[in-house]
Amino acid sequence: MDPYSRHVIICTGGFCSPERRGRGLYSLLASLLQREGLLFGADRVKRGETPCLGVCAGGPIVVVYPDGIWYAHVTPELLERIVVEHLKGGRVVEDAVFHRLNAEG
Ligand code: FES
Repeated sequence: MDPYSRHVIICTGGFCSPERRGRGLYSLLASLLQREGLLFGADRVKRGETPCLGVCAGGPIVVVYPDGIWYAHVTPELLERIVVEHLKGGRVVEDAVFHRLNAEG
């Protein structure tokens, strides 16, 4: 199996987003990754969903690892920016970050 460069996990639960908008984002992410050429090759990204990330407010919540970047209030438009600017371009969408996991301690 070829390695992945990043893993994107979307909360599809109903506490952070009562309308469960994360579900739509999870589907949209697949097409955005395909459009941007991020399904294969050295920059490929693994997509995942979870019923809860323990935040339970301000969703949908989207996290990107190994960067340790947590995004809140993710709309389809913001998800597109995350894919194009962060996953493809390597630039974190700073204005949407609400938490960082500091891997260096
Ligand atoms: S339900 Fe989304 S973070 Fe808990």
